[in-house]
Amino acid sequence: MSRVLVVYASQTGNTELMAEAMVDYLKAESCDVIIKTFDFDWVEPEELLEYDAVLIGTHTWDDGAMPYEVEDFYEEVEEVDISGRLFGVFGSGDSFYDIFGGAIDLVADRLEDLDANVLPERLKADLEPDKEDIERCRAFAKELCDKLQSASILEKI
Ligand SMILES: Cc1cc2nc3c(=O)[nH]c(=O)nc-3n(C[C@H](O)[C@H](O)[C@H](O)COP(=O)(O)O)c2cc1C
Repeated sequence: MSRVLVVYASQTGNTELMAEAMVDYLKAESCDVIIKTFDFDWVEPEELLEYDAVLIGTHTWDDGAMPYEVEDFYEEVEEVDISGRLFGVFGSGDSFYDIFGGAIDLVADRLEDLDANVLPERLKADLEPDKEDIERCRAFAKELCDKLQSASILEKI
């Protein structure tokens, strides 16, 4: 059974709705899912190594910035070797702003710089996710599951 961490920062609940859609999908696929929020639960970078995959959700703050509660993660993630580890980054932003969902790109770039295996799509919803966005969240979680399955098949060869 794959162990997946879903950790997110959500101030008004939009990113949380995206996380919930992914968690529902992953649980239905029999993943062991641990859900955390950056505000209350974030512990240590070493913890990342306990999971087969990590999904990171973040809303975006002024001028495309990361919310302060994600900053420690952003700084400290380099303390562990995450090369080759599977991640996905998602979140809600507001396309009214010049830099739509900028925090999602900042986090995904950071993980890629550290040679993590990041899902190519950076999943962004415009404000509250609608039905179509929720489907995109499920598809995003499916892509993660597919990658986990291929990795476990390769391990068995
Ligand atoms: C002061 C402020 C600044 C914001 N700046 C941006 C921004 O630069 N880019 C963006 O995409 N969204 C921006 N947003 C919009 C939020 O990211 C958006 O409302 C999002 O849905 C919040 O997600 P949450 O419900 O998960 O907290 C800003 C919101 C606030 C309140």
